[in-house]
Amino acid sequence: MAEVMKKLLSSLAIVICFSTTQADSSKPPGWAVASAHPLATEAAYWIAAQGGNAFDAAVAVSAALSVAEPMSSGIGGGGFWLLHRAKDGYETMVDGRERAPLKAHKDMYLDEDGEVVPQASLDGALAAAIPGEPAALAHIAHKYGRLDLSISLTPAIKIAANGFTVGPRFQSLTDFRKSSFNNKARRLFLDGDQVPDVGAIIRQTELASTLEEIAKHGHQGFYAGWVASTLVSEVTTAGGIWTQRDLSAYQIVERTPVRGVYRDAKFVSAALPSSGGIVLSQMLNMLQAVEAWNQERMSQLHITVEAMRRAYRDRALYLGDADFISVNQAKLLSVEYARQRISSLTDQATDSESLTKLDDKTAEGENTSHFSIIDDQGNRVGATLSINYPFGSGFVSAGTGVVLNNEMDDFVSKPGTANVYGLVGGKANAIQPGKRPLSSMSPTFVETEDFVAVLGTPGGSRIITMVLLALLELVDNHQRDVQKVVNLPRFHHQYLPDHITYESDAFDQRTTSALRARGHKLMVRERPYGDMQAVLWNLRRNELSAASDRRGEGSARVWQ
Ligand code: DON
Repeated sequence: MAEVMKKLLSSLAIVICFSTTQADSSKPPGWAVASAHPLATEAAYWIAAQGGNAFDAAVAVSAALSVAEPMSSGIGGGGFWLLHRAKDGYETMVDGRERAPLKAHKDMYLDEDGEVVPQASLDGALAAAIPGEPAALAHIAHKYGRLDLSISLTPAIKIAANGFTVGPRFQSLTDFRKSSFNNKARRLFLDGDQVPDVGAIIRQTELASTLEEIAKHGHQGFYAGWVASTLVSEVTTAGGIWTQRDLSAYQIVERTPVRGVYRDAKFVSAALPSSGGIVLSQMLNMLQAVEAWNQERMSQLHITVEAMRRAYRDRALYLGDADFISVNQAKLLSVEYARQRISSLTDQATDSESLTKLDDKTAEGENTSHFSIIDDQGNRVGATLSINYPFGSGFVSAGTGVVLNNEMDDFVSKPGTANVYGLVGGKANAIQPGKRPLSSMSPTFVETEDFVAVLGTPGGSRIITMVLLALLELVDNHQRDVQKVVNLPRFHHQYLPDHITYESDAFDQRTTSALRARGHKLMVRERPYGDMQAVLWNLRRNELSAASDRRGEGSARVWQ
């Protein structure tokens, strides 16, 4: 019990700051790390002690999360790693997003009548896209790290072999998804057919062997050899459509991140196939066009919601994998376009155009995982990783212990029909062989003369508005207490469904009445959402701080 209490206490969000006596902000005075699991943050600490840099730590943290948070991300999934290299300022986004299998086609989740088959893109092997995380880890270690991949994977292999301790979050997400589990997932994550007790130990020995294979052979350790052949045979036996060709063809892509300026801040965020950077820029450009920060609070809220609505509308209409469709990014990011989009603003809520009647189901709980790192050289990593829904497709491949994602649900199964996050879309995000599904994951850097911040969060479609609110808190409200930034109560609008979702502590009654009077529809979320992890380097004081969301079980740490 003492062990459990210790674990729970250590998982509370913490902020630790320190400064050197003399303010010299050319390099940070140490490291700052925030991740969604204490064992992952510990892995970063261990890597620093081995002489690794932020990029090695990113590999170790990603791999550790894939073991200790099997409901959120994993080597059976993908993600985006936003990197800043201090020595030359080089910035890139490693796109390790999953790809649709080559046998995928646009109507694969529809029945003979053209209707979406319920759960088909969510549960089981057919919902799984080709994983990208193993390729991304091998690439980051090789190109940007100082340590061998085998060293950076050591903490994850240990956690897989020795086990991690069940906490309340694992319990609630297991309970939520257990009905979709295949036999292997049930054996691994349940106690009989029950959710395990808090404090129970979950060991994943097959996953440890798979990670060892990657440690030995790098990229090929996952995409070739016995791991690949086991995955393909497991998936096809269970009705999936993976082939060895899919695995052999998988490659990460380095993409130029989306960059923008908001007031005195520069920001850098995720590029397509994440919608994050574009949607974030559009919202900020609109707020800037009307100088929203100069308005009184109610108008500010109203304008922020209207900017969200308009940017998410464009997401639905225009955004998808730019390797497959053409996206007029220059136009979408232009100040002129933002000005024109927000010019229809009135005192009243704009009616979101209706594409089709939407199914209003929303995701329960938080999965996916974000971490933020700054090392003592000033290298930065912000990474958001996912297997999509809690425990992905619920399908664990026997023999490899890999939990397969259900990222195929991020595609549009049918134009106008909402996915699990209520998002709609059309052709731009239709399923095509080898295409990457449109994402909302938004690892982001924010920088002014005063500070550098790295932030991000899980939360499906709500990720981008969470990042927006955090950025506004830093820039408009000059908040430098990063714990307050991640703890901020949240609200969200995504064009359709046409309502503002908000955490119960985000608005008081006066605010909800005032918003209603302007024609906004409101929907309170009893459960808080998101699990933001952020680090901040205060350049004026040369001080580091790190914060893990009060809503989660993560841990933040700063050391010299
Ligand atoms: O890529 C995306 O946008 C989603 N697959 C992320 C899912 C997520 O954040 C789930 N968290 N609630």
